[in-house]
Amino acid sequence: MDAEGRALSANTESGGRYHTNWLNMMYPRLRLARNLLADDGVIFISIDDNEYANLRRICDMIFGENCFVATLHVELSATQGMKVKAAQNGNIVKNAEYILVYTRDGHKNIGVNLLYDYRPEYDSHYSYFLSKDKKSFQLLRSVYHELYPNVKLKDIVSMYREVPNFKNFVDEHRDRIFRIDKTTGFSMEKFERGVIYNDYFAKGKKYTLYNDGHGIQQFLFLGASFGKCDDFAGGFGLRKIRGDWWKEFYKDMGNVSKEGNVVFENGKKPVRLIKQLIKLCTNSDDIIMDFFSGSATTAQAVMDLNKDDGEKRKFLLVQLPELCNSTSSAFKAGFNNICELGESRICNAGVRIEKEAEEKNQEVPDTGFKVFRLDSSNIKRWNPDKKDLAQSLWDYVDNFVEGRTEEDVVYEIMLKTGIDLSCPVEKLERDGHTVYSIGMGALFICLDDHVNEDVAKVLTALHQELSPETWKVVFRDNAFDRDADKTNVREMLKCEGLDPVDFLTI
Ligand SMILES: C[S@@+](CC[C@H](N)C(=O)[O-])C[C@H]1O[C@@H](n2cnc3c(N)ncnc32)[C@H](O)[C@@H]1O
Repeated sequence: MDAEGRALSANTESGGRYHTNWLNMMYPRLRLARNLLADDGVIFISIDDNEYANLRRICDMIFGENCFVATLHVELSATQGMKVKAAQNGNIVKNAEYILVYTRDGHKNIGVNLLYDYRPEYDSHYSYFLSKDKKSFQLLRSVYHELYPNVKLKDIVSMYREVPNFKNFVDEHRDRIFRIDKTTGFSMEKFERGVIYNDYFAKGKKYTLYNDGHGIQQFLFLGASFGKCDDFAGGFGLRKIRGDWWKEFYKDMGNVSKEGNVVFENGKKPVRLIKQLIKLCTNSDDIIMDFFSGSATTAQAVMDLNKDDGEKRKFLLVQLPELCNSTSSAFKAGFNNICELGESRICNAGVRIEKEAEEKNQEVPDTGFKVFRLDSSNIKRWNPDKKDLAQSLWDYVDNFVEGRTEEDVVYEIMLKTGIDLSCPVEKLERDGHTVYSIGMGALFICLDDHVNEDVAKVLTALHQELSPETWKVVFRDNAFDRDADKTNVREMLKCEGLDPVDFLTI
């Protein structure tokens, strides 16, 4: 695609360079992704059968084979509609797509928050019931014996499935129903005979222990397998930890076109899927980056998740200003390019999330975002006319590219001084001077002309008012009428504590 988002050529299978073109497009992006990834960062790459094998190979090259974590199998479609006919004709229809997972440093335990799926089957091992006074335990079957006299131990699995009363009983008493485990080997001497000891951890499991005189009984309670599930229904109940089989996302696909109130026919992903990938491996103020933002599902997922768990994750999305096809729904909805569509979705999501938080009297999460367009530098490159150096020098007295705004320059300085672009930028007017205060005074930028001691006084006052931990000050190089003004301003700011290396001119 060119810089305006027009496709330069269609990558057709018959073109002979189908896979090569795809690899040429992906390789530099994945290299860059690796460079940008935090040391403990995780990357997820969604792919179907067409390039799975090639993607695996270049990821092994770029990230290292030892950094491969898993291939998630996401059930994104069911055998329905056209697929039924295909299946009836003997084809193996596609139900899954894949998500390759790699880490930067090779760690495999990426799960910060575990994901759970609903477990409809009861595990017959959980067949013991502890009395209320916690003094004795018996088989669950015998507790229910009066109601169901013929029930055998093996029947309790089907009873859980088929008899609502039994299921309710089990669900309600999950903290008294347990199974016996025999793996950890606690020593008898520590535990008095006939006493029940709670909360012993071994190998990631929480045990209750009981010395019956012959040995230590190790109880695992059913309650530990209960909780909120992450499957489509999202209910509360018996659950199991999810592995690499991510099932039933085809159910989300039924509604995906409506998600975020934007129609995007070019591979929109269910927000629940992206949300769960992010939930799995991030928290606090982690940064989530998406190289192929499309309809900005990732932004919505991050904001939704922050609303749910109160964390402060940030997102960084990249999208070419690819033009919307004139026959597409996006174009008909008034969007010229995909970036506009993505922006609109982030706004929609923000408005909804704020409204929901207000309605529930919850703290309103930060739904603000900034949009940047990649461009050349705002500062002219020194490229003099060697035949007329004198004129070139005059031409470069004003070294900013024409047509750029002060804000453009401010953000370029932020990038160059390593300040986070999401830091708050305040434009302050003081004593007739304009000062940009970034990150509550971590960086002051004054792009005024005729900078002299008055500006130094303004900055001194601002520094005292905001008292940032560290600070930097940036002026235009040609803003000082005389060398003496520059020296005086630097000295005055030095007296206020500014390290001379943090006095910068551009
Ligand atoms: C499948 S879409 C991503 C959809 C997104 N996950 C969502 O839920 O909306 C892939 C995106 O990659 C972008 N893309 C395609 N070719 C590209 C290229 N050569 N360089 C950068 N982006 C490209 C497209 O503009 C498109 O928005």
